[in-house]
Amino acid sequence: MPIQKVGVVGCGLMGSGIAQVVAQTGYTVVVRELNSELVDKGLKTIEKNLQRLVEKGSLTEIERDHTRSRLRGTTSLDDLGDADLIIEAIVEQLPVKKELFAALDKLCPKTAIFASNTSSISITEMARATQRPDRFVGLHFFNPVPVMKLVEAIRTITTDPGVFDEVVSFAERLGKTPVRTSDRPGFIVNRLLVPYLLDAIRALEEGVGTIEDIDNSMKLGCGHPMGPFTLLDFVGLDTTHYIAEVMFEEFKERRFAPPPLLKRMVLAGWHGRKTGRGFYDYTDPKNPRPMRLT
Ligand code: CAA
Ligand code: NAD
Repeated sequence: MPIQKVGVVGCGLMGSGIAQVVAQTGYTVVVRELNSELVDKGLKTIEKNLQRLVEKGSLTEIERDHTRSRLRGTTSLDDLGDADLIIEAIVEQLPVKKELFAALDKLCPKTAIFASNTSSISITEMARATQRPDRFVGLHFFNPVPVMKLVEAIRTITTDPGVFDEVVSFAERLGKTPVRTSDRPGFIVNRLLVPYLLDAIRALEEGVGTIEDIDNSMKLGCGHPMGPFTLLDFVGLDTTHYIAEVMFEEFKERRFAPPPLLKRMVLAGWHGRKTGRGFYDYTDPKNPRPMRLT
């Protein structure tokens, strides 16, 4: 059975982007959030993005309307019961993800494929919460999903090779460039990116430079589109903290350990752009001001 209906779980930063791109490609999509306010917020983000594409001339009004008609939000997990593929994009915490997949496993037919968008958590461990470890993969998208071309397709030692090929083809149909990788925390990109981001925080803690100077150094000196602090705020400091904890737990290497400043900022509720404060203050989103943190 080819993939026709896709269930997306979570409509935050990543889930909203994934739901948008999948619906734009022509699939029927149901996206689930925890309550109706969060469903509305996620769908509003998608609507804004679609409208921006129409204004730029990269999407016609008809294509926008068709995308809208293929996409539905829900708070009920039952509405995902007939999906051919589930893509999970909820909070980066293993117990929460395991509970979700165990519930979905009871609900969905045995033929459905389960994919997690996790940044760092073991795909094998999540698959163990289900009776379908052969139909379980990682599909790791990048932020912002409508723009970033890469998708990491992650297989475990229990993944059926045919299922893996199917999800790789699915990623290609979305217009993405998939890379095939295996189940190691952080996969390819975060294995390299996360120690770099955490090192930027350590450099700040040690007084090597200011937030702005470190950001400008990596932009102007290395051609990065965003400096590390702008990128940390963009990814989310809560998410980065969870990722660092998972990777440190696995590798036990200092380069993956969450720096004390990151932990304090998460405790303070400064989660980056999504909460209005992180390494920058986004009171005026067009003109972020560096925070005084040291
Ligand atoms: N959603 C949809 N489209 C967006 C967008 C968003 N949130 N933000 C920007 N865009 C689009 C713009 O509409 C614009 O499109 P056109 O070229 O068609 O006009 C394009 O992206 C460029 O945007 P801007 O000109 O406004 O800004 P920019 O040139 O600074 O680019 C950016 C914005 C693409 C985000 C760029 O800054 C960038 O590439 N940043 C780095 C992002 C990155 O590293 N992502 C990976 C994060 S790590 C991760 O995702 C993995 C993990 O597990 C943590
Ligand atoms: P986010 O905080 O923006 O969104 C997570 C959403 O999941 C929230 O809106 C929350 O209400 C919802 N949620 C929690 N439990 C749920 C459940 N049981 N059912 C439905 N919805 C539920 O986080 P995010 O940045 O979108 O990250 C989501 C996942 O994607 C994480 O695993 C993260 O590691 C991964 N990821 C994040 C990035 C990034 O740059 N932020 C990039 C790639 C992958």
